[in-house]
Amino acid sequence: MFRTKTVEQSIQDTEEPEHTLRRDLSALDLTVFGVGVVIGTGIFVLTGKVAKENAGPSVALAFVLAGVACALAALCYAEFASTVPVAGSAYTFSYASLGELPAWIIGWDLILELALGCAVVAVGWSSYIRSLLDNAGWHLPGVLTGSHHGTLGFDLLACILVLVLTGILVAGMKLSSRVTTVVVGVKVTVVLLVIIAGAFFINGDNYHPFVPPSKGTEGGSGLAAPLIQLMFGFTPSNYGVMGIFAAAAVVFFAFIGFDIVATAAEETRNPQRDVPRGILGSLAICTLLYVAVSIVVTGMEKYTDLSTEAPLADAFKAVGHPVWAGVISFGAAVGLVSVCMILLLGQSRVFFAMSRDGLLPRFFSTVHPRFGTPHRSTILLGVVVAIVAGFTSIDVLAELVNIGTLFAFVVVALGVVILRRMRPDLPRAFRTPFVPAVPVLSVLGSLWLMLNLPAETWVRFAIWMAIGVVLYFVHGRRNSRLNVR
Ligand code: ALA
Repeated sequence: MFRTKTVEQSIQDTEEPEHTLRRDLSALDLTVFGVGVVIGTGIFVLTGKVAKENAGPSVALAFVLAGVACALAALCYAEFASTVPVAGSAYTFSYASLGELPAWIIGWDLILELALGCAVVAVGWSSYIRSLLDNAGWHLPGVLTGSHHGTLGFDLLACILVLVLTGILVAGMKLSSRVTTVVVGVKVTVVLLVIIAGAFFINGDNYHPFVPPSKGTEGGSGLAAPLIQLMFGFTPSNYGVMGIFAAAAVVFFAFIGFDIVATAAEETRNPQRDVPRGILGSLAICTLLYVAVSIVVTGMEKYTDLSTEAPLADAFKAVGHPVWAGVISFGAAVGLVSVCMILLLGQSRVFFAMSRDGLLPRFFSTVHPRFGTPHRSTILLGVVVAIVAGFTSIDVLAELVNIGTLFAFVVVALGVVILRRMRPDLPRAFRTPFVPAVPVLSVLGSLWLMLNLPAETWVRFAIWMAIGVVLYFVHGRRNSRLNVR
């Protein structure tokens, strides 16, 4: 259960011809990939919701806190990715350091993060598109707009988006990174537009109070409160200092994705140098943009009036500029496409790596003879995500994605410390500074954010993980390639 796959074995596996991915990406490609997946539903949708319900204007501080937790984790990811430049990210890292069962758990956890994350973003995209279609006077029948408030429906647009993107990914990395570059350009332009144009409409009064006084939550089941409040017997509350932490645990979703840059290590021309640059670069750019956007938006409109569906666009409507609001909605709809695509890419690579190791059926790890992509795992997961996106509503899933990702951060940070002890000899093109202080702080930061998520999210996460452990004992353990070495 705790047998490890050596780093040399991992690298050697990537060199078997029928399981080899094409090395095509540069540091710039990776940064574009990072920004492409990171800026998405988090900033375009959650900013408004969290400012309104949890933190007021201090949502900007929540972004800083979440950004710091991510930066600590990013330093650990960068060391791992430069030491083990193999598809599969945290999964591969933990196989090399912690053992097979922990690696399986992480892989299973990453599938949760990436698949559900992709479904969440596809559903968000579809509602932006519908609002644009509505402006043009075209309306989809209600039953094709997804499930709302207990009524079952099918989100046709979200489903189609995922299927089209799956096709693009099967056809090859280079094509997909070219599409991404254009999309990322549009998205960053729109975000800059919000910051620069919005700055002219800031009204200083909206910043008072910057940290709204703490207020008890009414109604709802106790399980909806952050675990930390239940553990220490606080009355569940919003706003105040605790509200900033709860907000940070939710806006954390906005940062998810920089870790996926590491999953593309195997397809990078010079992974030792370019992967750390790609990870840290995209994280730095996004943190700056998020803090700026949240300061501007909470300055444009009183936090209590912010919209929870399209806060950035609606803030412009509120100051009397509906045309700009339309431009922003359009940019958001375009931007969410790249987020969705890269989440899909990341998850197919994790699945691919697990299958190459025999923990999932080996059938899925054959690479397409012409395109050089893992087409079977891409298609399988694409279809599953398309169905989930069709039938699922967003809110609960986003928190589940966050807890899964934070859990992976904890394991990666521990892995860095363990691998330094066990294999001090390995060449590390990037070394995490101040080990063990940085990994320890990363573990504490991630755990802290996890504790600020609702108790019911913990329950759902435990169920998903329990299913994974059963699967490992039924299939993975017996079929692992480490058995035959
Ligand atoms: N970080 C990505 C987003 O905000 C997942 O949509």
